[in-house]
Amino acid sequence: MIKDKDTIIASLDVGTSKVCALVARRRLDGGPELLGMGVAPSQGLRKGVVVNIRDVQESVRAAMDEATRSSSAFSSGVYVSVTGSHLELFNRWGSIRTPDYSIPLSYDQVDRAINAAYPAELPPDKQVVHMLPQTYAVDGLTGIRNPVGMHVNRLDVETLCVVTAAAPMQQLMHAIQNSRTKIHGMVMAGLACGEAVLTEDEKEAGVLLLEIGAGATTVAVFQGGTLRNATVLPVGGYQFTTDIALALNTSFDVAEEAKLRYGQVLHESIGDERVEIRAFGDRRTVQVERREICRYLHDRAEELLRLSHMKVQGLGYTGILPAGMVLTGGGANLPGMDTMARQIFNTPVRIGRPEGLRGQPEGLRDPIFAATTGALLWSLGHEAHRERIRQSAKSHRIGDRYKYGHRGPLSWIRGQAKKVAL
Ligand SMILES: Nc1ncnc2c1ncn2[C@@H]1O[C@H](COP(=O)(O)OP(=O)(O)OP(=O)(O)O)[C@@H](O)[C@H]1O
Ligand SMILES: [Mg+2]
Repeated sequence: MIKDKDTIIASLDVGTSKVCALVARRRLDGGPELLGMGVAPSQGLRKGVVVNIRDVQESVRAAMDEATRSSSAFSSGVYVSVTGSHLELFNRWGSIRTPDYSIPLSYDQVDRAINAAYPAELPPDKQVVHMLPQTYAVDGLTGIRNPVGMHVNRLDVETLCVVTAAAPMQQLMHAIQNSRTKIHGMVMAGLACGEAVLTEDEKEAGVLLLEIGAGATTVAVFQGGTLRNATVLPVGGYQFTTDIALALNTSFDVAEEAKLRYGQVLHESIGDERVEIRAFGDRRTVQVERREICRYLHDRAEELLRLSHMKVQGLGYTGILPAGMVLTGGGANLPGMDTMARQIFNTPVRIGRPEGLRGQPEGLRDPIFAATTGALLWSLGHEAHRERIRQSAKSHRIGDRYKYGHRGPLSWIRGQAKKVAL
């Protein structure tokens, strides 16, 4: 069993339909190599909210145990991808004044400016998940992408704050911790998916990401290399299945199977084929037109895509984003979804499959694994960045010590004053 906490990293995605855990090793070049994974059916979660904590615990434990077994590696903790319509995003400015213009700006000073944008007035039932820098202003000069190394009197930063309702998040965290899993951090699923399925060029030029899960759909806009805005709708593949179950008077599981086997959003392209499904009641099977099943899917898909289109406009993006649109999450697997999205959004569309792990089996290139893969990739970048901040804070302290001798700044000033007095 490998137990090296510096090189073993893990991610966990507790979705409405499945729980997935990945364990990887950080290679010397910094990239991740997949060691193992675990997937378990998700129980006890609806639309990103825990409705039965024991069931969630069991699902998490099953996925984590399988990931540990298959990787023969023990991770000291996981990065958890989180979603839900309780997520809120808004922009905030923060600023700092630097003590010495002649010293170039360091990572930890930039980090302090970002922290200064922290929404301190947030009520206790809210919790900050991310503070993502958007743009900087250096002594009033706006549009700066990276101020590290610049000479600055005043630094302003515009951040995108990702905030969640504290109660559902706490319940999820308790469920994970109760299943003997330590949490290293959280990452918004939409942000994580961006890491796994979008190219740097797409994120730079501007792209719309639609992650259609089982219980939630995330609409996220990336531009200038970063997440710009997002919103989460409480609708996903679960509702597609429920529509079929209600219309055909059958169980959720039978409807889900019918959706996966016969589903197609473009119902008009389906011929006169009839399919057999198990129904409730005394008749064990019924014959239905496949086109009928597809019509329910068509209607639900159209509603979801039109709603998403409205949401994108609500986020302030009325025109076409240059790199078009990427669909991911399990709902992207529904045949015809991309064609319909192309028609409704009037933009190029592709299906986003997670990439970026060495040793990634073909099966993991499924859009349902975008959030888990992305959480792993995001954690690597995040930890490398935190390390840069730590190092730069340390070298600041060493620099200060050099400047002030081995005493703190106050005693150094007192010493200088004494010298002058003498
Ligand atoms: N081939 C397919 N055709 C149709 N639907 C599919 C297909 N594959 C997966 N799905 C649907 O995708 C959904 C699962 O997607 P995903 O695993 O991304 O969701 P999740 O992470 O469990 O849920 P959420 O993120 O919303 O909490 C299910 O509703 C499933 O029916
Ligand atoms: Mg999901």
